[in-house]
Amino acid sequence: MIKKMTISSIIKTKGVRPLVMITAYDALFAKLLEPSSDMILVGDSLNMSFAGKNDTLSTTMEQMLYHTNAVCTGAPNSFVICDMPFGTYTNKKTALKNAIRVFQETSADCVKIEGGTDKADIIAHLTANGIAVCGHIGLLPQSVRSEGGYRVKGKTEEEKRKLIKDAKAVEAAGAFCMVIEGAKAGVAAEVAKSVNIPVIGIGAGVEVDGQVLVFSDMLGLFEAFTPKFVKKYLDGASLVKEAVKNYSDEVKNKEFPQEIHTY
Ligand code: KIV
Repeated sequence: MIKKMTISSIIKTKGVRPLVMITAYDALFAKLLEPSSDMILVGDSLNMSFAGKNDTLSTTMEQMLYHTNAVCTGAPNSFVICDMPFGTYTNKKTALKNAIRVFQETSADCVKIEGGTDKADIIAHLTANGIAVCGHIGLLPQSVRSEGGYRVKGKTEEEKRKLIKDAKAVEAAGAFCMVIEGAKAGVAAEVAKSVNIPVIGIGAGVEVDGQVLVFSDMLGLFEAFTPKFVKKYLDGASLVKEAVKNYSDEVKNKEFPQEIHTY
């Protein structure tokens, strides 16, 4: 039996051991990922990895609720994070209305919000109303168009100061942990040291409080591009293609189904 993490057990890992977070979008994979992860993130990256879009911006609340429900069903003993899609937390009222939907329509344990000092009032409003929040600072995929691309953060002193300020604002607003994405490793390490809650990195080096990867990236299923920070633990795409080719050949040659597959 897998023991489900709680907000307090997640916070207690700080300085003790790194946290393992991974994304999932469906029950099948969530079940496979559950035994080896502390937290499952239903990321709006599903819009790219699952729905084949070029960015996360068109993800809807309905999609997030559907996929979060699937993940919660497949991994009932996992701490599940539901990403709030672009445009669903533009002000306190909208954010609370949408976050309440996550809590009422799924069994997710918290929501995730992109932004630092600029989103502190929204994070504070959600946490004051009983919604647990995971922050997300650094490279913010939902800002890809306004920033003109995906840019690694922390390359200048000013960016470093901003990241630390963002992390402190997210913590002060009541978030229990945060993701830091696409940041220089040394800077991410300083950010992690500057707060008392876990800072989970993606493309942010090893000196943070845990790591998160998109499951389809680390299983080698997503072929469109491979960011530098991704390690492929499996050549999933080749394995799947080979298996389907074998099936196709056997169907064409009438080698499948055999006697054992036949009623
Ligand atoms: O949507 C997502 O998968 C994420 C991760 C990249 C952290 O936000």
